[in-house]
Amino acid sequence: MAQQNLDNIDTTEHPYINKGLEGIVAFSTTKSFIDGQKGDLIYAGYNIDTLAENATFEEVCFLLWNDRLPNSTELEELNNSLKSQRSLPQPVLDYIKSTNKKAEPMAVLRTAVSMIADFQDAPSGDAEKDNRDDAISMTAQMPTIIAAFARARSGKEIVAPLDNGSTAFNFLYMLNGEKPGEEAEKTMDLCLILHAEHGMNASTFTCRAICSTESDMFSAVTGAIGALKGPLHGGANTAVMNMLLEMDANAETADPVQFTKDRLASKKKIMGFGHRVYKTFDPRARLLRGMSKSLSEETGQTELYEWSESILKTMKDEKNIDPNVDFFSATVYYSLGIEPDLFTCIFAMSRVSGWTAHYLEQDANNRLVRPRALYIGEKNLDWTPVEER
Ligand code: SDX
Repeated sequence: MAQQNLDNIDTTEHPYINKGLEGIVAFSTTKSFIDGQKGDLIYAGYNIDTLAENATFEEVCFLLWNDRLPNSTELEELNNSLKSQRSLPQPVLDYIKSTNKKAEPMAVLRTAVSMIADFQDAPSGDAEKDNRDDAISMTAQMPTIIAAFARARSGKEIVAPLDNGSTAFNFLYMLNGEKPGEEAEKTMDLCLILHAEHGMNASTFTCRAICSTESDMFSAVTGAIGALKGPLHGGANTAVMNMLLEMDANAETADPVQFTKDRLASKKKIMGFGHRVYKTFDPRARLLRGMSKSLSEETGQTELYEWSESILKTMKDEKNIDPNVDFFSATVYYSLGIEPDLFTCIFAMSRVSGWTAHYLEQDANNRLVRPRALYIGEKNLDWTPVEER
């Protein structure tokens, strides 16, 4: 479509604003495809169900960074790179130990990721290689940052990463101070796969916009963390858990159907529902729903899951709105014994793979991201001296 020249159009009749850039296609990408009507999600050619059944998070990272799955040598090399970079520079550890224990975990993650940039190797002269190395080191170190702060704020000793085991295994080990069981590791690994990439969501858009100015990858990921933090985006999973725990506080009288209807009646959003692109069940929510159900049956704590199902049915009946990735991920993480205010950090430590994949793609074929704004203010006003104002 020809570039619209807004300068001489009387826009009172032509509202050219797509609020929230709804429906605007700003980039081409090979990283993911979302069919919002059918509820399909593809990462670089592979359907999310295929990846959920067969892949590891590390294979998904390689897939997003290279648009193909790794062979066994490449996968071993990536696993070794991740293992060798999990530990944090001492000044970052010192920050995590000394910062305000009541700080928001996503704020600490944002600061710490920005700090690790200070300790990266000097540019090698091959910018793309350096970017790929930075993507690996951020993917390796973010789980360590999150687990370290979770323990430091509780007065527990920080647990160093092991030099073996998967990202999921090490995260749960560093968080809990004991090696996770196979089921817990598999559940965490699947959650990391499901949160890795999702097209032009707000945090990925932020990452690409920062990349487009030729700024560095750490700045782009730090900006993306800031975008993900919001409750309309990645912060929703924590909000879902807080909503369920609010009900749990009065479990005897809890009525999830009435709770939902009351919130809707007062024009409040039910977190974990709705999506800009999916107009049907989010395929990730479908998989997480099954995980939440089986985990609740295993732990015997079925109430939160049952309330979730009641809320789901009420939202469908009342507003015809389906759950998104954040709704059931909340009870899955809670079943793993993870504190609710860490849920968005887990989203971030997975999505860093998608953000950095989009950074590499933007950097390879860049054009500065610079949309327009429709000026609706006054023009050509006469000056009034301050004593007359
Ligand atoms: C993520 O983009 C991505 O891909 C994001 C993500 C990813 O993987 O990166 O999928 C992850 O961020 C998922 C979304 C997490 N956020 C939430 O769960 C917060 C609650 N959801 C809503 O705020 C909302 O659904 C959004 C923000 C997700 C989408 O908002 P839109 O597209 O701007 O839609 P809208 O707010 O204009 O809502 C359209 C209608 C409105 O009704 P009316 O005013 O027209 O009558 O649907 C209603 C809304 O009130 N609605 C909701 C609702 N979501 C939409 N009503 C109650 N509860 C909700 N959750």
